[in-house]
Amino acid sequence: LNQLDLPKTMTLIEQTFSRVWQNQQRDDLGDRKSSYEDLVTLFKSELSQEQPLEVIEQFFRDYLKHSVNTAHPYFNNQLFSGVEWSAVLGDLLTAVTNTTMATFESSPVGTVLESMLIDKLLAKIGYNNGEGIMVGGGSQANMQAMVCARQHVLDGFNQDPSRFPGLKIFVSEHAHYSFKKAAMVMGLGVRGVVKVPVNAQNQMDAAVLDQMIQSAKASGDTPFMVAATAGTTVYGAFDQIPDLAEVCSKHNLWLHVDGAWGAPAFFSDRYSKHLLGSELADSWTWDAHKLMGATLTSSFFLSRHKNNLIQTNGLDDCKYIFHEDDAVSRDFGPMSLQCGRRVTSASLWTQWLKEGDAGFAKKVDHLDDVKKYMLDKIKQHPRFELIAEAPFLNICFRVLSDKIDCLSLFNEKIRETLKARGQFLVNYYEDKNGLLFFRFILSNSLFTKKHADSFFAFLLEVADEIEVSGL
Ligand SMILES: Cc1ncc(COP(=O)(O)O)c(C=O)c1O
Repeated sequence: LNQLDLPKTMTLIEQTFSRVWQNQQRDDLGDRKSSYEDLVTLFKSELSQEQPLEVIEQFFRDYLKHSVNTAHPYFNNQLFSGVEWSAVLGDLLTAVTNTTMATFESSPVGTVLESMLIDKLLAKIGYNNGEGIMVGGGSQANMQAMVCARQHVLDGFNQDPSRFPGLKIFVSEHAHYSFKKAAMVMGLGVRGVVKVPVNAQNQMDAAVLDQMIQSAKASGDTPFMVAATAGTTVYGAFDQIPDLAEVCSKHNLWLHVDGAWGAPAFFSDRYSKHLLGSELADSWTWDAHKLMGATLTSSFFLSRHKNNLIQTNGLDDCKYIFHEDDAVSRDFGPMSLQCGRRVTSASLWTQWLKEGDAGFAKKVDHLDDVKKYMLDKIKQHPRFELIAEAPFLNICFRVLSDKIDCLSLFNEKIRETLKARGQFLVNYYEDKNGLLFFRFILSNSLFTKKHADSFFAFLLEVADEIEVSGL
């Protein structure tokens, strides 16, 4: 059954790498117009009989042809973009060694790598004796923070939740939606997430937060956590950690920082000032698959409270797998909400080996140079309007027109046209007043000022066409 045709397999791998590499060098994103139904027809297979390797070879070709070219600098749809080859190599190791992070005996190398990466990130934050674990994404890291905070702040919660009515956490009105999802899973309901207004710099207002916590307590609710964001998804804002830490210490609440997007600012002398007071927080979310470029997903939950994860997630009836023969257990399993867990450290490890700290710093600073260039262009051009000065690598702007009344529809149509032509994939945001604008994210190491010029030219070309043809 499981026989390896090594020469054919190697050819397949080589062709795959070379195809993705070529896609990265194209002038556009490529032609991928298939609908969901087309793809079902193309990939439909009975899966009921054995097939020759040629079928898998054809599947590879189809898969690559119909996948979105996220390797390309013109893929700007999310907070990740590009394929870092050094990270892909590590991910290959994960696939071929196929094991689970649950125990040291199953995953000795993965356990050591994950531990060492955690130590490295803890040191960047400024935690001397902390702990951490890799999880399945920034959303999960935020949920892990909520679970840890609840158990730590509300002594004995896991044993008797009924003692704590009206559980509440407080986040910026621009926080990521994952906090609400976690609240649903954890039984708080979405009402358990209280949104705090932001100031003119799009940062959570600490004075208002203080008042909101006081009134929640006065009405009998049980606040247990404040979640700051380092690098908000749309506006790239950094909540002020020292101010929020003061409020949390006054009310005895856990302070979490969601650094899914902005934590790599630690690498850059230009941006690290936004993270001042990082060590005052109780925990952090850190995604390495966004700005740092590791393969999806590479996410960390990091905390300054040693042994809190095991106290929160541990159970004493898992003897079928965790034997703890050693005096000190090296198993990540008991600390985790998962049992089987992919080795996600190898990708970041190989990338870090190749690039070093300096490589990440260089990337952030390169993208910062491009950002300054783009901001100048936007500010100088009469047809562009900057919507907000984002402190991080986000650019919020829109295209203006004196021929089209509804600018939101106009900008949306520009985006859809670029997407349909396979020219550029950029995302947008619609704020609470219905203002729609591009949320341009700089996260691809290959993106240069030349690409920025092409992007602006595409925008203006399509805008002109829409002005003639109408919406
Ligand atoms: C600020 C912030 N936090 C959390 C997340 C969720 O991260 P993930 O997509 O890894 O679950 C995102 C995703 O964009 C984000 O922008």
